[in-house]
Amino acid sequence: MTEKDINDIKIYHYSCVDSTNKLAQNMENYLHLDTIVSDSQTAGRGRMGREFFSYNGGLYMSVILDPSKIKIPLHLCTPSAALAVKKALEKRGVENIYVKWVNDLLIDDKKICGILSESRTVDSKIERVVIGIGINLEINKDGFPDSIANKAGYANYNGGKLDLASDIAQNIGEYIKSNTEAIIEEYTKNMAWLGKEVEVTDYADSNKKIEGIIIGVNQDCFLKFQTREGNVRFLSSGEIL
Ligand code: BTN
Repeated sequence: MTEKDINDIKIYHYSCVDSTNKLAQNMENYLHLDTIVSDSQTAGRGRMGREFFSYNGGLYMSVILDPSKIKIPLHLCTPSAALAVKKALEKRGVENIYVKWVNDLLIDDKKICGILSESRTVDSKIERVVIGIGINLEINKDGFPDSIANKAGYANYNGGKLDLASDIAQNIGEYIKSNTEAIIEEYTKNMAWLGKEVEVTDYADSNKKIEGIIIGVNQDCFLKFQTREGNVRFLSSGEIL
């Protein structure tokens, strides 16, 4: 492991760990925005208990947040992180990045980044929030596993990983000091498939599948969706297929 300070962000860089989120949850004596980076992971954690494929050409990182420094509602930390990654990649010339509700990034409709936020609670108080980010940066010479082969893409970026990680952490630090309106406005503008007809699995309603048009998100970042029958629905948790 090497330790580096890049633009006031402390980066702990590993070549391989099981999960940067796990390390970040257990790290002692951390400071707000300390960031764990690994070049690969053996047990990357994804949403819904899935495994996150973590090959060598990716960036796997976890940013630790001190809850007292978070000025936005906690559930907006993950959407903010999506915007933070997009901004840092765009600064490096990566184009056509869209946010797939709720927290994936896409290029050409392929997933290039996933985000998993977890918090650690001590005595029923949130002691830290960990924002875990996995980005497919370069092509994987062995391809992606069959289960994700038709949906996974990559950013096509082979510049410095640690500078990128530091920028992302800094951007997250800025977003969490901003406000709901600004985040929701920027998030909505950058949504994938806005105004398009899609199919959504509603996790809050027995994984029911609904077809309709994406209208945007509300202030809680619930998906605003118009069903084929013309009803407007708000989905708190789900997945666009
Ligand atoms: C998802 O798309 O399901 C979320 C994936 C989040 C993956 C990142 S990689 C770095 C961090 N460490 C983990 O174990 N998971 C997150």
